[in-house]
Amino acid sequence: MNAPRRSSPPLRSPEQRRGDPATTAPRRSSPPQLSFGQPVLQLRGIVKSFGANHVLRGIDLEVARHEVVALIGASGSGKSTLLKTANLLERIDDGQILLAGDDISDPRVDVDGVRARIGVVFQHYNLFPHLSVLDNVTLGLRKVRRLARADAERRGMTLLERIGLAAQARAYPDRLSGGQQQRVAIARAIAPDPELLLLDEITSALDPQLVGEVLDLVAELKGAGSTILMATHEIGFARRVADRIVFLHGGRICEQGPPGQVLDAPQHPQTQEFLRRVLR
Ligand SMILES: Nc1ncnc2c1ncn2[C@@H]1O[C@H](COP(=O)(O)OP(=O)(O)O)[C@@H](O)[C@H]1O
Ligand SMILES: [Mg+2]
Repeated sequence: MNAPRRSSPPLRSPEQRRGDPATTAPRRSSPPQLSFGQPVLQLRGIVKSFGANHVLRGIDLEVARHEVVALIGASGSGKSTLLKTANLLERIDDGQILLAGDDISDPRVDVDGVRARIGVVFQHYNLFPHLSVLDNVTLGLRKVRRLARADAERRGMTLLERIGLAAQARAYPDRLSGGQQQRVAIARAIAPDPELLLLDEITSALDPQLVGEVLDLVAELKGAGSTILMATHEIGFARRVADRIVFLHGGRICEQGPPGQVLDAPQHPQTQEFLRRVLR
């Protein structure tokens, strides 16, 4: 929250970007400069079982400010469970979770207060169907941040302009394509300016031709300095946008490192096997 945001070009929609020589977000030519100091998220020895199903067997993971970490792993490897523990949607059996140094795994924690600091987008764009696009984006600002409607709507419109959907502000979600709805879900998640964004397979329910516009938006959020922990099955996207790839297997972090290392020269046989399957 305190660190200055990197200055960055405003977010533009695919529609606005049409005609650009490069339609993908620019790659920084030098490695990202991660700020030092306290990580935004620290998972320490996270253990989580569902009955006899030991899903997380001791996960240690830190996400630095402005860092984008991609979780990959087979279906059922615990990616969603890990994201849910970070947002307190699943209680952990053991371990500790720190958000900007605050122990949010303490049972006495104010859960709503914690969730107000974390933006979440799931696989299925869960916009409220009976609310307009603008109301979906501003609801959290009004109810959680307690902004007056006019202030919330001003911020909401700015966000919708950033994602190129200002013209749809008064429309209901069912008038939008799946890709547009998912972009609205992202706008809603970033509206309160959260310290951390959790993205769980946000393109997996989309038709293939709509995936690009959502992934481009995530790349632009990274450019704007967001801190992101995301589960993704889009290996090409993880390569393009993640600073670090974390491969989950058997309830543990099997291997992690920069995309070029984990994806091009995986060290662990399980990583090699997984990548052979998904890149086939
Ligand atoms: N609420 C739940 N109750 C019981 N089992 C669950 C629950 N959520 C997830 N699981 C189980 O935990 C394992 C990991 O699931 P999940 O975190 O969804 O994996 P991934 O997101 O990597 O596909 C799976 O075996 C799944 O069936
Ligand atoms: Mg999942």
